[in-house]
Amino acid sequence: MSPVPALTVAEFAHTAVFIGCGDGAELEGLAGDPARLLIGLEPIEVLYRAAVRRLAHRSNVHLLRCRIQDWPAPGYRGRVDEVNAVFPTPEVLRRQAEQIVRKVCFLLPGGGRFRIWTEVTLSGWPEVADRQGLWTLLRVLDSEPRLAVSAREISWAQLPPFAQHTHCGRRFAARSIRAFTTVEAVLSVEAS
Ligand SMILES: C[S@@+](CC[C@H](N)C(=O)[O-])C[C@H]1O[C@@H](n2cnc3c(N)ncnc32)[C@H](O)[C@@H]1O
Repeated sequence: MSPVPALTVAEFAHTAVFIGCGDGAELEGLAGDPARLLIGLEPIEVLYRAAVRRLAHRSNVHLLRCRIQDWPAPGYRGRVDEVNAVFPTPEVLRRQAEQIVRKVCFLLPGGGRFRIWTEVTLSGWPEVADRQGLWTLLRVLDSEPRLAVSAREISWAQLPPFAQHTHCGRRFAARSIRAFTTVEAVLSVEAS
């Protein structure tokens, strides 16, 4: 894992973290905003390497080969505005929701937002285990007093373009998957 100097964070007006950025496609369209530092976390070596190849020329993108809960994030606490997860693996939500939410809250003591886009819907998604993953995430988010949580079902057209253009997004389009869930958790300032 190559650390990003905390000083670098201070050079940007905004910082967004992407949990499980895969091959980096979701960062590509957003990297044109020079005021925003994008931090992509991807634990799988081959995907991390693909993201590095795709985004090496972008000075406002930092890629780290790790899971969010293993990222020590030295100097980042309080310097991140938002954390995003584009099509997280439902199994990961089921098993790791607590650690992930804990780390998100740690990163955002001054408030911010945590957003997730998932192919799993509570109405029509066929896999019970995947729906359990989404339920687990919602339950964990709901139990955190600093978070105001909203979730709603959306169509393909309502996905942000950066999510539509990911590897998973293109795969869902090819399989004519048309319903998704978006979850937004707004964090209030941590009590001192
Ligand atoms: C289903 S893929 C989605 C990849 C990409 N966002 C997309 O839409 O194509 C989920 C990704 O999350 C990564 N991942 C799994 N657990 C993670 C964790 N705890 N922290 C960060 N990334 C994780 C996986 O390696 C995988 O690449």
